[in-house]
Amino acid sequence: MIEIKNLTKKFGSYCAVDNLSLLVKSGEIFGFLGPNGAGKTTTIKMIAGIMSPTSGNIIVDGVDVSKSAIEAKKKIAYIPDEPFVYPNLTAREFLRFIGDIYDIPSKEQDEAISFYLSRFDLLDKADQLLGSFSHGMKQKVLIASVLMRKPKVILFDEPTVGLDPRSVKNFKDLISTQTKAGVSIFMCTHILEMAEKICDKVGIIYNGKMISCGPIDKLRKESGNNGSLEDIFLELTS
Ligand SMILES: Nc1ncnc2c1ncn2[C@@H]1O[C@H](COP(=O)(O)OP(=O)(O)O)[C@@H](O)[C@H]1O
Ligand SMILES: [Mg+2]
Repeated sequence: MIEIKNLTKKFGSYCAVDNLSLLVKSGEIFGFLGPNGAGKTTTIKMIAGIMSPTSGNIIVDGVDVSKSAIEAKKKIAYIPDEPFVYPNLTAREFLRFIGDIYDIPSKEQDEAISFYLSRFDLLDKADQLLGSFSHGMKQKVLIASVLMRKPKVILFDEPTVGLDPRSVKNFKDLISTQTKAGVSIFMCTHILEMAEKICDKVGIIYNGKMISCGPIDKLRKESGNNGSLEDIFLELTS
């Protein structure tokens, strides 16, 4: 579903992403791990089609993101680490706006808005302005806005920063429903415990280079470390 080949991004002479290749199949959850500044956000922005690569290819569900940007973006949902929502719209207005942009029929929008806002305990705040929402509440509205669109690929940059434990549980349940329907998830995370629990595969990026990639058992064998993902991560990035 996501095929990345020899992806490189340079800022001047600095190489933020260095010859990265990876594959995420339909229904898989891929965890992209690495220390601060490793190149995770830069990679996710290139997959989302909002930053162009210096070289390399990104194919999403058979569509080349650089060559057919609009077609690719219809298949992709991207949730950045800093959730942006329009402060002068209410949660319901924002979700209707996104629904209209993506041509979701209005009855379907209403059902999805009630379903997701109630899942995230926000139904009573549906008609309040987003400017008054906390970081975590904005994140939930954004997650609702992408799930409502039924994308093929969801890109999450640090998805659970700002979410309370119950919302994290809700988030995990919702993405598991998505993957069962064949949606692929690409997720940058610092929370190694969560990556270990929910990801089918992980990739560890360090100084722009993928230093290890595959199911956690494979990483364990490669690193010779039989411990947790945290132990493997610390060993590989030390
Ligand atoms: N627009 C930019 N211009 C110059 N350097 C950048 C830009 N965006 C990111 N970088 C640099 O690229 C590296 C990787 O950044 P980033 O992908 O945000 O890391 P991560 O998300 O893994 O913490 C960092 O050294 C960062 O300073
Ligand atoms: Mg980042």
